[in-house]
Amino acid sequence: MKPSLSQFLLGLLVGALLCCVGFAWIGQRDGKAADGSRVREITVAHGLAVTHPVHQGIEEFGRELDRLSGGSLKVNIFPGEQLGTETVCLEKTQQGEIDITKVSTAPIGNFVPVFKLFSLPYLFRDEDHYWRVLDGEVGEDLLDALSITESGTSSGLVGMTYYDAGSRSFYATRPLTSADSLKGLKIRVQQDPVAEAAVKSLGASAVTMGFGELYTSLKQGGVDGAENNPPSLLSSRHFEVCKHYLLDEHSRIPDVLVAGSKFWDSLNETERAWVDQAARHSSKFQRELWAIESQKALDELEAAGVTILKADPEAFRHLTKPVVEQFATGDRKEFVNRIGAVK
Ligand code: GCU
Repeated sequence: MKPSLSQFLLGLLVGALLCCVGFAWIGQRDGKAADGSRVREITVAHGLAVTHPVHQGIEEFGRELDRLSGGSLKVNIFPGEQLGTETVCLEKTQQGEIDITKVSTAPIGNFVPVFKLFSLPYLFRDEDHYWRVLDGEVGEDLLDALSITESGTSSGLVGMTYYDAGSRSFYATRPLTSADSLKGLKIRVQQDPVAEAAVKSLGASAVTMGFGELYTSLKQGGVDGAENNPPSLLSSRHFEVCKHYLLDEHSRIPDVLVAGSKFWDSLNETERAWVDQAARHSSKFQRELWAIESQKALDELEAAGVTILKADPEAFRHLTKPVVEQFATGDRKEFVNRIGAVK
C-alpha cells in the first residue's frame, strides 16, 4: 500500500524531530551546552555509598561548581568503587583517567609518605583539635605536600579540601568490651601500614582489603571485624554482620578531595578558582552534615541491635604507643610536633 501524502509529511516531521534530538544529544556528549558554549564534564570517583554524608558533600561540590561556572563545569559522580578501590582511583587520577577522587588520607600515605601521619593513633586530642589543625596552617601545608613525592618530584595529585570522617573505632562479629577482646581477631584495615601496625600492637592480625570487598569477607568469616566511623558502618551495612561496636576512637583520618595534576593543568585560571571555591564550600557543608549524620548513624545502629560501648582510650593509647614511635619520624615527626602545638 502506498503511503498517503499526510502519512509522508508526518514521517518527514518525525524524522526531522529525531535528527534534532540526536544532534542535541551528540552536542551534549561533545561538551556543548544548548547555547553553544563549552561544557566540561568532570569525573569524580569514590568508594562510599550514596547514602553516606561524604557522598552528599561531593554532590554539593557539583551543585556549587555548576552554579559558579554558570553550567559550564558539570560533575559526574561515580560512587561505590565503580571505578575501583581508593588506591586504584588515586592511580587513575594521576594518569588523568579520573579528574577528581575522594579518598581517605590513609591510602595516600603509599603515594606521599608524609600522609601516613594521619593514621597515627590518637594524633589529635579531640574533634576540636582535629579541625583547628586541618583549618589552620598545618592543614594547608599538608594539602600542599600532597603534590610532592618524597624525592621532590610531582605526585600528579593536587589536594583540594578535607571532608570530615569523624573518628574510627573497632567493630566485630564477636563481643568487644576492651582492648583485650581484640586479641586473636582478624581485623580488616585500609591499605595503610600504620593501621596494620596498630592492629598488630593490639594482638589482632591485620588483613588489608578494599572497602567494597569487606561485607562479603565479614559474612564469610574471612575477617572477624574492622574499624570505621558510624556513618560508614551504617551505610556499608556491615552492621548486619557485626553487632559489636567499641568506641575507642583510635584515629581521626580525614577524607580528602584530590584532583589529578593533568586535570588541574587543563583548567584555566578562572575555572581553577571555581573548582577551589566549590571544594571549600562543600567541605563546610559536609562538616555540618557530618555532625548530624554521625549521631543519627549511632542511633540507627543501636536500633538495629548493635551493642555500642565506650572504651577507655588509655589502654588503647598505651598499647599503640610504639606505633607512633615507629612512624612519627622525619617530616612526619615535624608535623606531629606542629600538630601537638596547635592549641
Ligand atoms: C572511611 C573513609 C573511606 C574509606 C573507608 C575504608 O569510610 O571515609 O574513604 O574507604 O573508611 O575503611 O576503606
